[in-house]
Amino acid sequence: MSRYISLVVLVLCVASSYAMKVVDIDTICKHEEVNTSLCITLLKSKQGADLLILAQYTIDVLYTEVNNTVTLINTLIHQYYKDLEAKSHYIKCVNLFGEPNGAAGDIKRIESTMKDGDYGGMNEKVLSILIDYDSCINGEYPTDTPYPDKSLLPKYAKVVHDVAFILFVISDYLIGNV
Ligand SMILES: *[C@@H]1O[C@H](CO)[C@@H](O)[C@H](O)[C@H]1NC(C)=O
Ligand SMILES: *[C@@H]1O[C@H](CO)[C@@H](O)[C@H](O)[C@H]1NC(C)=O
Repeated sequence: MSRYISLVVLVLCVASSYAMKVVDIDTICKHEEVNTSLCITLLKSKQGADLLILAQYTIDVLYTEVNNTVTLINTLIHQYYKDLEAKSHYIKCVNLFGEPNGAAGDIKRIESTMKDGDYGGMNEKVLSILIDYDSCINGEYPTDTPYPDKSLLPKYAKVVHDVAFILFVISDYLIGNV
């Protein structure tokens, strides 16, 4: 009997290509482009957890932040319906943060690539969120003049950016690049 059990254990180990990986929270949070204080506040309760647990937790937080941002932008679109320049800025941003092509859609693709073990694909989708942030706040092209936004959007969007950047670093560790 016992030799069959060890055979099953062996098969299970071979079938799962992902070996548990723990990276110190401080190492992730001290990355030069990471918002260290936000990162430590976010991840400290998960110290010692497997990278995939950290990633899933960060994805959940990112989802909430993106959702809050989309809700805010929808409010702004209604509030500024008479100001065409503002309105077109917020409509552009809602597409960049919402579904299906913006950040909210990317989060779903991040989750599915992660579940498939495609960490390179996951990394690319996280990068698209960072690019979406930049296109909304700074403009799509380096020659664009950023919209002088006095609303809360730049602040909300910055949190999305900062959380996404933490996920970007985590996905680098999952790939094994660092
Ligand atoms: C880090 O994030 C916090 C919370 O969102 C924010 O108040 C702070 O300005 C951020 N720091 C930097 C350097 O961006
Ligand atoms: C996103 O936010 C809205 C408004 O707060 C809420 O009704 C909705 O349930 C949220 N969506 C998810 C999937 O959490």
